[in-house]
Amino acid sequence: MKRIAILTSGGDAPGMNAAIRAATLVGRAGGAEILGIERGYRGLLDDAFVELGANDVAGILREGGTILGSARCKEFHERPVRDRAREILARHAIDGLVVIGGNGSLTGAVHLASPEEIGKGRPLKVIGVPASIDNDLGLTGLSIGVDTAMNTIVEACDKIADTATAHDRTFIIEVMGRDCGYLAMTSAIAVGADLALFPEAGKTENDIVDQIVDTVMAVRKRPSRRARRVIVIKAEGVAVPADRLKTLVDAKLRARTPDSDPSSIETRVTVLGHVVRGGRPSAFDRLLGSRLANVAVRSLAAGQTHKMAAWMPPVELPEEVGTRSPFDPYVWLVDLGAVLAETDNLLKGRSSLARWRAGAFDEIEDALLL
Ligand code: F6P
Repeated sequence: MKRIAILTSGGDAPGMNAAIRAATLVGRAGGAEILGIERGYRGLLDDAFVELGANDVAGILREGGTILGSARCKEFHERPVRDRAREILARHAIDGLVVIGGNGSLTGAVHLASPEEIGKGRPLKVIGVPASIDNDLGLTGLSIGVDTAMNTIVEACDKIADTATAHDRTFIIEVMGRDCGYLAMTSAIAVGADLALFPEAGKTENDIVDQIVDTVMAVRKRPSRRARRVIVIKAEGVAVPADRLKTLVDAKLRARTPDSDPSSIETRVTVLGHVVRGGRPSAFDRLLGSRLANVAVRSLAAGQTHKMAAWMPPVELPEEVGTRSPFDPYVWLVDLGAVLAETDNLLKGRSSLARWRAGAFDEIEDALLL
């Protein structure tokens, strides 16, 4: 491998910089020239290449976001646009490409690396590195950014819990995650929330309102005043907007408790939004980014392509789908096409993992309200 390019694409994730740094240093140590592509696939189409050396990546480990910038690029779904991208990569004599990103970015990588699309063009090897705070990618236990996002959510919820406890209030806290409830589920456990709402549960608006109201009624009966605050964590993928949920819940609570002072039962809403995506990467995300990128670049150099470096896949993998990397016992090399198929199953609730997640939550909720 003489020239390797790196890009970050889609929603940025804390720890992307650790991956850029590791890919640069490991690639250079192996004798390759490393180029960064600014603003993901959009920058690739704009020919926005920059050389990356040790000095360029010094000190970036602790920075959130991505030093290369990122973008969403819908045109990349079109074959002629990808052909143009391959021509640009060929003009820069790129032999290998590391794509750091989520579902959309890895979809682009699958097509870029497809032998049918490459045809008689300049050979190109592509390896993906999973990075998305949503943890919505299949065949990897974790993606870069998830741990930091969870820590951010937990910190925010702990603060909200202080004021909620002081006022015996109910808070609905919305967290990012697009179509995936993972962040809502795990942070609910980590903060000791009373209820987690996530799209995989497939509940109707009415079910959700009843769930919240039943939870409030049950929690209010707890003997200790300090245990009577209610924290509901709502994934953004739950289709009912948080404000609408508040209105519906408040109305039902008033109807169920006609003797209460309405102001004492009124819920409060906090939408954490993009706060969840920013900030300094946690130690774990720095390590995860570094280790996945290390394997990605070494695998490219070893001739691999059309693969993703995955962190301890949570399902059994047949050999044709994935194998443990020889470079790191926790990192597997899995087929990019299989990653996308499993991602789709995960998001549609069809995979065993999705069913386990939702089922585990039903049990947790039952236990919480005993
Ligand atoms: O995929 C990461 C993510 O932060 C999702 O959780 C969220 O739905 C989406 O990106 C927001 O995208 P944008 O920053 O383009 O609005």
